[in-house]
Amino acid sequence: MAEIGKDIAKAKQILEAGDLVGIPTETVYGLAGNALDVNAVSKIFETKNRPSFDPLILHTSSVDRVLDFVIEVPDALKVLADSFWPGPLTLLLPRKSIVPDLVTSGLDTVAVRIPSHPLTKELLSVLDFPLAAPSANPFGYISPTQASHVNDQLGSKVNYILDGGPCEVGLESTIVGLENGEVTVYRLGGIDLRSIEDKVGKIRQIAHSTSNPKAPGLLQSHYSPTKPFVLGELDKLIETYSNKGIEFAVMSFSDSHESVEKNRKIILSPNADLHEAAKNLFASMRILDSMDVSVILAELLPEEGLGRAVNDRLRRAAVQQ
Ligand code: TXA
Ligand code: MG
Repeated sequence: MAEIGKDIAKAKQILEAGDLVGIPTETVYGLAGNALDVNAVSKIFETKNRPSFDPLILHTSSVDRVLDFVIEVPDALKVLADSFWPGPLTLLLPRKSIVPDLVTSGLDTVAVRIPSHPLTKELLSVLDFPLAAPSANPFGYISPTQASHVNDQLGSKVNYILDGGPCEVGLESTIVGLENGEVTVYRLGGIDLRSIEDKVGKIRQIAHSTSNPKAPGLLQSHYSPTKPFVLGELDKLIETYSNKGIEFAVMSFSDSHESVEKNRKIILSPNADLHEAAKNLFASMRILDSMDVSVILAELLPEEGLGRAVNDRLRRAAVQQ
């Protein structure tokens, strides 16, 4: 198992030696390595069991530093950088050759983000290189939102996890780029679409793909628990599965579904608060996945604000592999 602590000097030392550290961000925990060191980046792909055509996000601590790695920040995206960094926004920007091909899977853009979590902000500011950091989960599984999640799944492969407590946002960053001059969203996430459109006007949304390496952020089967995950109208699903005699657990948005035993259900937000639901989503999916049941039943959230990003994750989780 990995050591878990708050020692930034220790994390720095491990990263400088070319090894990996689990890091907290406001979105989800990342599996971080020196983005400019190809060996460290290779370790990330190996540790996650991630295909090399799925590129990584480069994390750094200031816009000045971003300019070391990208040719320019186009005006439309600069507005977003100014508004939402540090925070749960990733921008796809034309990369400089200093960024290794392995980080970008050979694409001519690099995904960049300035996270706002205080521990990781501090870590980034004392490093003289940026961090490549995908979510710290095995490829295809639910992203980690607590240090213990990272330890449970990657603890045998990582020596140190920086503990920043539970992630405040709980969903990965929103990924935005320019496609033929149009602001385009590649992954819904912690900054909702409305807030982005308030800054830059109507934006384009890319559809999901199952295997298109050109839009790798959009691989459809993702964020999946190991148990079958069924989405629908909960009252009906509960009735159907009870009648069939199949053991199930329930994840609801705000309803308590009194007919279901307490230890077989999780309510994401009793007050129907979308931020709270997003924050609780992945940890809840993990708990439900570990229950002694055959299937997880869940419902979509209202299709507004962060609800859209949560629904995106729920729909992807419900795709059976
Ligand atoms: O919130 C987050 O973004 C977290 C934290 C740790 O920062 N990171 C994260 O990384 O979610 P990851 O690797 O799990 O997801 C990054 C997504 C991938 O789906 C990848 O395909 C996409 O970003 N991506 C990276 N670079 C890209 C590029 N140049 N063009 C298109 N998609 C890209
Ligand atoms: Mg991920």
